[in-house]
Amino acid sequence: MKKRTHNCGALREEHVDQTACLAGWVNNYRDHGGVIFIDLRDRAGITQIVFHPDFAEAHALADKLRNEDVIQVTGKILARGTDDKGKSLTNPKLSTGAIEIQAEQLEILNKSQTPPFTPDEADRTGEEIRLRYRYIDLRRPKMQETLRIRSRVTKVMRDYFAENEFLEIETPFLCRSTPEGARDFLVPSRLQPGEFYALPQSPQLFKQILMVAGCERYLQIVRCFRDEDPRADRQAEFTQIDLEMSFVTCEDVMQMSEGSIRAVWKDILDIDVPKIRRMTYAEAMDRFGSDRPDLRFGLELVDVSDLASKTEFKVFNGAIEAGGVVKAIRIPGGAKMSRKETDALAQWVKQFGAGGLPVCKVDDGKLATGVSKFVTEIADDLIKRMEAEDGDLICFGVDAKPATVARVLGELRVKLAHDLGMIKPDQWEWVWIVDFPMIEWSPEQKRWDSLHHPFTAPNDEDIDKLDSDPGAVNSQAYDLVLNGSELGGGSIRIHSMDVQEKVFGLLGITPEAAQVKFGFLLDALKFGAPPHGGIAFGLDRLVMHLTGTTNIRDVIAFPKTQTGVDLMTQAPSAVDQAQLKEIHVRLDLPAK
Ligand code: AMO
Repeated sequence: MKKRTHNCGALREEHVDQTACLAGWVNNYRDHGGVIFIDLRDRAGITQIVFHPDFAEAHALADKLRNEDVIQVTGKILARGTDDKGKSLTNPKLSTGAIEIQAEQLEILNKSQTPPFTPDEADRTGEEIRLRYRYIDLRRPKMQETLRIRSRVTKVMRDYFAENEFLEIETPFLCRSTPEGARDFLVPSRLQPGEFYALPQSPQLFKQILMVAGCERYLQIVRCFRDEDPRADRQAEFTQIDLEMSFVTCEDVMQMSEGSIRAVWKDILDIDVPKIRRMTYAEAMDRFGSDRPDLRFGLELVDVSDLASKTEFKVFNGAIEAGGVVKAIRIPGGAKMSRKETDALAQWVKQFGAGGLPVCKVDDGKLATGVSKFVTEIADDLIKRMEAEDGDLICFGVDAKPATVARVLGELRVKLAHDLGMIKPDQWEWVWIVDFPMIEWSPEQKRWDSLHHPFTAPNDEDIDKLDSDPGAVNSQAYDLVLNGSELGGGSIRIHSMDVQEKVFGLLGITPEAAQVKFGFLLDALKFGAPPHGGIAFGLDRLVMHLTGTTNIRDVIAFPKTQTGVDLMTQAPSAVDQAQLKEIHVRLDLPAK
């Protein structure tokens, strides 16, 4: 193989009359009355190659070329010029569109079988086929661009944190389980029969221990593993930009990490991220029904419980008597929706625990249809409270559990904003959610659960309430939310063994269990742990926003399907009995 002189995106008019040698894949070929045209593609772009019969040997070989063959071409760079009618033959869609190469020599480096799809056809090809032949899918310019952006994000982040004196430190993949709330992936130990490693759900405890070890500023761009069902923005293995700092407050960590986000958005999109606003958890839940509120549109939740309790409507006052709430959102212009459409919404919200979705329309200054006849006595107040106008639709969330109302209306407002086209492109609504409760009561498990993780520090002024009123304790935690998606989360950690033991106790972890699971952390806290805190960003989610996709698989080179399968390598797969024996594992499968 000869040395190539340029990539396929490099040549311009100024190169005309030089000789170039390019290599790449045959993107497509056309035979125009004996002259063969090829679009040659590599990761940098596409260059048109012309095989003229005058160069007989190259022309004869070119006649055999097919899509995705790998070739090398040498020839003279020509201006595209004009056609017989004087029209320019320049292709403005290509960066190399002003030139073409007249091939003098052609070497076929590797023939390709007929591919199951070509990169040009990928948009029309099912995702299963694309994932199975991922190496073809990744040849698409769009995917190459995504990989480039992803690589650029990690470089900008590394540079930023290096400038701020963070050390990159690796932590183990084979470890004890860290309770981040998801299921662990387990790895049987061969050397310690009957024992298992867990793949880390995050490096949480190691990074805290690195602070105890005096490292002061830690960074790792690290794979995390959580055995949970994949979703549009969730994979079982995903990547975190993970950091931890000593001698800091919430503010310090938020400022430092906000700076890294600002550097990335500037570098990749040339967008200046403004100072990011703060919103308390309580306000986010109250106004948007979610701790990751999408602030690109209104559709805010309005509490109408006081009005609802004045009606005779059993659905409303029954819920309130049972300790619940009635909240409403106003959909501007929503009165256009048909009965069929609002019934479909009522069906849709059931997945979030709603019994139904009472609605009514505003017409001629009055409430109409739906539940309007049950709320006549409060109609005027309701219209005023909702600032409703003719043509609006009002949707009610009603439940004995306020959390259910928040969830139902929180999900509904996002769906409606998308369905009704209320979200403008290129809107970036950033918000830090702060003042989370430290723990919440889990009715299913009948115990307190951490909102973040058990190592999150309570607010200093709330420490006294740990015994008297633990549900009222707020934590020093913060989540970064962009357009309704949680990009990152972190906290100041507990650095005192006494407080940590107390919090374990609240979470129902006995001192014995705490010693078995986290003895090493409790030990470390005994030996001079500095105050410390940190955060982790989801790299995959960052890249999703930067590339404008809602599918996390688009930003991962080799992702898994919804059922956790890698379609290219066919993982997971059965293994030999001998392999199982070595790791002391016997299978107990349900009968087929
Ligand atoms: P947390 O669990 O909030 O915090 O994770 C941090 C960020 O990682 C991303 N993320 C995911 N991305 C894709 N697929 C997943 N399954 C997935 N799970 C999480 C999210 C999330 O905001 N140790 C703490 C961080 C800390 O306290 O410093 C932690 O892991 O963007």
